[in-house]
Amino acid sequence: MIKASIIGATGYAGTELARLLKHHPGVEIKYLASKSYAGKEFGELYPNHSCEDFVLSNIEIEKICKASDIVFTALPHGISSETVIQLNEYDIKIVDLSGDFRYNDEVLYEKWYKVKHPSPSLMKSAVYGLSELYKENIKTSKIVGNPGCFTTCGIITLYPLIENDLIDHETIVYDAKSGVTGAGRGLSNALHFCEVESNFKAYKIANHRHTSEIEEKISIAANESVYISFTPHLLPTKRGILGTIYANLKDGVTAEDIQKAFVEKYNNQPFIKLLGENKTPELKHVVGSNSLITGFVVDKRLNRLIIVSVIDNLLKGAAGQAVQNMNIMFDLDETTGLNTDGWYL
Ligand SMILES: NC(=O)c1ccc[n+]([C@@H]2O[C@H](COP(=O)([O-])OP(=O)(O)OC[C@H]3O[C@@H](n4cnc5c(N)ncnc54)[C@H](OP(=O)(O)O)[C@@H]3O)[C@@H](O)[C@H]2O)c1
Repeated sequence: MIKASIIGATGYAGTELARLLKHHPGVEIKYLASKSYAGKEFGELYPNHSCEDFVLSNIEIEKICKASDIVFTALPHGISSETVIQLNEYDIKIVDLSGDFRYNDEVLYEKWYKVKHPSPSLMKSAVYGLSELYKENIKTSKIVGNPGCFTTCGIITLYPLIENDLIDHETIVYDAKSGVTGAGRGLSNALHFCEVESNFKAYKIANHRHTSEIEEKISIAANESVYISFTPHLLPTKRGILGTIYANLKDGVTAEDIQKAFVEKYNNQPFIKLLGENKTPELKHVVGSNSLITGFVVDKRLNRLIIVSVIDNLLKGAAGQAVQNMNIMFDLDETTGLNTDGWYL
């Protein structure tokens, strides 16, 4: 059995992770750690959760590490990097769900997160945990920087198109909609029920941090700098991301070329479902599962590709992908403990 612990277990991502690990046939949970709720039963925060009888522990790094093979950190950025630096002293694997270990370039991180990274060298040693694209590196990594939710949806969709030089890099627009859990459990005026219910709005236009994470990874695929227009929107739902990506096709590129690129990249990937041309997915198809579903339309009138992809932000966009990465790190079948089908209703 893999001995696993979570630091930041009470947040939305940590709570989903605890649920997945509790049901995972190859995992024994050792510690669920919290700063604010240490000493309380998990069930006091989340009654009827599969971990309700667990007593939340303090964040005692040595105690947690000595009992664990892997520690997940589901903490705000900045706090995560300080925590991971301490965890790294022990012979354990680490999966960090924050933005702190996702970048190759600390200057880019510091520009978009507006803080200095406390250990750029450790950040560089981490492997980017987009399971389908970096599997071989994830297998042998000590620290995985688990990707962001919008970025998972955006990069998986764009990568084969960029890699195969099918779209005009100057014209990429990523228009994404997320449920409210994407913002975490902390309170803010913009996330009150009365602000969100029956409402729909764009936010952080042209300055959302995930822009830089997507651009860094697709630029590597393109072998040149690629910049995108990214606009997130807040949906009046709890979970799920629907991303619509627009880009002009390079001359002569057909729908068959697009489908071929997707199939070659993702054919044997259990969590990627390709609908092909003229079929597009809906949030309901994916919420509750670790899958990404994608389909596309070619607007021949404008020679433009329009792709729609969906994920569950808390699963493929966070906790599910973290478990997928753990499975890869410990040489398990990567679907172990994870659903490929959504709840639907
Ligand atoms: N929500 C998503 O869809 C999503 C997707 C991908 C990645 N992420 C990333 O995952 C991380 C967690 O996100 P979340 O949505 O779960 O956030 P959240 O619901 O706000 O939870 C934050 C967690 O961090 C802990 N925490 C906050 N301040 C702390 C401090 N000073 N010291 C120690 N612990 C502290 C909280 O613990 P206590 O309250 O128990 O003290 C809580 O467990 C973030 O970095 C986020 O960017 C989230």
